[in-house]
Amino acid sequence: MSDNHHEEAHTGPIKTPKQLLVAGFLSFVVPIFAIIGLVLYVSSSNKPAPGASNPEKALAERIQKVGMVEVRDANRPLRAGEEVYKGQCAACHATGAAGAPKLADAAAWAPRIKTGFEALVQSALKGKGAMAPQGGGDFNDTEIARAVAYMSNAAGAKFEEPAAPAAAEAK
Ligand code: HEC
Repeated sequence: MSDNHHEEAHTGPIKTPKQLLVAGFLSFVVPIFAIIGLVLYVSSSNKPAPGASNPEKALAERIQKVGMVEVRDANRPLRAGEEVYKGQCAACHATGAAGAPKLADAAAWAPRIKTGFEALVQSALKGKGAMAPQGGGDFNDTEIARAVAYMSNAAGAKFEEPAAPAAAEAK
């Protein structure tokens, strides 16, 4: 009993083993919940706007710099006109689908060739009639110009396939 008195003098609010147990439990559990709360808070602030279909893209868009310049894979070698034609343009221009002027159909191409190479490139880049911009593809502007030259030349024109980026003035 005297022992008890002695202890009471030195140990603050924790007086029984049960209180010690509760205090120990709380001092262990409370920080864990605090940490969980912090983690939830931090990760929720990274969440994309509700309704975003592609969370990663939405996040990238939100953190992108203002006035960012898109660089398409600039290091790959540019494809030749014939290659681009076969990959993207032949779908319509080989068969004349959707009213496209057919490859090597001089009669169909002659009036178009007269408008000049630049005008044709612009049509191919921006789309014309049933043709989507870039014929629906995703090419370097120079590659499109090359495909235009390839197709026009097959129909009797004498355009040169551009070697270096002619893209700058095409914009
Ligand atoms: C979905 C079918 C389709 C695809 C694919 C397509 N074209 Fe065309 N293209 C057309 C049609 C249709 C026209 C005729 C448009 C008109 O005169 O209204 C046309 C016209 C053109 C013309 C003539 C434009 C003018 O000013 O008279 C060029 C040049 C041309 N295409 C280039 C291309 C190139 C290069 C590609 C591939 C990168 C391509 N096209 C892919 C359908 C297509």
